[in-house]
Amino acid sequence: MASAPHGSHSGFNFGCFVIPIVIVVGTTVSYASAVEEFKVGDVEGWRQPDINHTEIYTLWAATKRFHVGDLLRFEYRNDSVVVVDKRAYYHCNVTSPSSVFTDGNTTINLDNVGPMYFISGNNEHCQNGQRLAVEVMPLLPQSPPPSSPPQYQEPEAEDSPTPSPVSTSNAATHAQELAVSRTLSSSVLVTTFIALSWHSA
Ligand SMILES: *[C@@H]1O[C@H](CO)[C@@H](O)[C@H](O)[C@H]1NC(C)=O
Ligand SMILES: *[C@@H]1O[C@H](CO)[C@@H](O)[C@H](O)[C@H]1NC(C)=O
Ligand SMILES: *[C@@H]1O[C@H](CO)[C@@H](O)[C@H](O)[C@H]1NC(C)=O
Ligand SMILES: *[C@@H]1O[C@H](CO)[C@@H](O)[C@H](O)[C@H]1NC(C)=O
Repeated sequence: MASAPHGSHSGFNFGCFVIPIVIVVGTTVSYASAVEEFKVGDVEGWRQPDINHTEIYTLWAATKRFHVGDLLRFEYRNDSVVVVDKRAYYHCNVTSPSSVFTDGNTTINLDNVGPMYFISGNNEHCQNGQRLAVEVMPLLPQSPPPSSPPQYQEPEAEDSPTPSPVSTSNAATHAQELAVSRTLSSSVLVTTFIALSWHSA
């Protein structure tokens, strides 16, 4: 009914933009409402890993996607959850933690986008692999462009001599993912803005 300034031309573009936008917004909303609680280590809980299985928390985290608003729950006995920075995570250093929990059933809110690091307050346990790094993602649909699915994780299959290189490569991969995610976020905003501009024009 409304008189289009440029006839069929603007009508065509309008349709192209608006339909994908509606889908994107819908997906975002469904993510926002789906808060997940992850029990760290699943049935293993939070404990010193077996001597031949020191990667359990790295592997556990690699199979998950954590988003802002999700929860991590640590279940443990005679142990602790120490929230630390990256450097302290790699060195099992509990000198200046962000927080320490010893209650045996600790729930952590993943409030911010970015990495979070947890170690056992028992230095030996930490050295033996009782430490966890997670990358908290923004609330976004997780469908990257089909052209660039970055090789996600699993470079550790071949070598497993020490814990640190694996953790490092994992952190790098997660950082990469985060960057992709942030780029996506920006382009969605820009696209939305363009679409809205079209709409109001
Ligand atoms: C590895 O650990 C399991 C227990 O988790 C044990 O049963 C097995 O014997 C261990 N294997 C070696 C080679 O140490
Ligand atoms: C916890 O530590 C106490 C003493 O330090 C010990 O008696 C108890 O058996 C320990 N419990 C577990 C589950 O290791
Ligand atoms: C632990 O970290 C503190 C700073 O937070 C530093 O002063 C200390 O030297 C570190 N300890 C070790 C063993 O790296
Ligand atoms: C830990 O707390 C959660 C609720 O936050 C509860 O569902 C769970 O049963 C508790 N686990 C233990 C071992 O107490």
